[in-house]
Amino acid sequence: MMTIPKIVILTGAGISAESGLSTFRAQNGLWEGYDVNDVATYEGYMRNPTAVHDFYNMLRRKLQHPNVKPNAAHFALAELEQKLGTDNVLIVTQNVDNLHEQAGSKNIIHMHGELLKVRNEKTGQIIDCFNDVNYQQNKLIRPHIVWFGEIPLQMEQIYDALSQADYFISIGTSGNVYPAAGFVQIANQTSAKTIELNLEPSLGESLFQTKIYGPASKVVPEFIKTFI
Ligand code: OAD
Repeated sequence: MMTIPKIVILTGAGISAESGLSTFRAQNGLWEGYDVNDVATYEGYMRNPTAVHDFYNMLRRKLQHPNVKPNAAHFALAELEQKLGTDNVLIVTQNVDNLHEQAGSKNIIHMHGELLKVRNEKTGQIIDCFNDVNYQQNKLIRPHIVWFGEIPLQMEQIYDALSQADYFISIGTSGNVYPAAGFVQIANQTSAKTIELNLEPSLGESLFQTKIYGPASKVVPEFIKTFI
């Protein structure tokens, strides 16, 4: 019997671009209109918590707009997991949206947090959140988002999965942000096959053995077909 490959998939903002969510570093991307130091650091939050909540309130509303739905790339990854089994397919996403969940994927690590959750700063309790947060009403609730300078979530599980992976597929990420941008090196060291699927070459392009460039909704389903 053929052994089922173990696949770790890293996703970034590019996989959700065709679902209507802005990427960060494109022209007109999110980081063009906002200063990262203001809205994506703890120091920025301390300076002006209301402005930071306003930013994530805006993103939370956008995500829940009826036009924002998973695209063919999200669905292809969900199908891959269904066919190969949850033990064999792990999505590690940098995205704070829930489009992988909406498409039906189950084995997902949100290493940069989740927009539809908030966290109690004192107790660490994580709570679902679908509405705007008003800092004046509850000063202990912060976005469940990993800001610059903070440690991404579930890193041990991620490194463990990378050490066992037969394939590492990176989708829709520019390779600007570590530690995610370094996963390909770890995968290469453990002799996994490494694949980049992106609109354009990422910063880590030369580290991937296979690279296919085009919109995620096209290149992801085509590539995933090779496994199912
Ligand atoms: P970026 O905005 O840096 O990169 C998005 C990548 O997706 C780029 O390389 C684009 O070329 C590509 N892309 C755009 N449209 C695409 C499409 N339709 N199909 C395929 N690829 C497409 O976003 P990330 O790499 O995800 O962190 O950014 C990483 C982190 O930086 C984010 O998680 C966020 C940000 O600061 C936090 O907020 C903690």
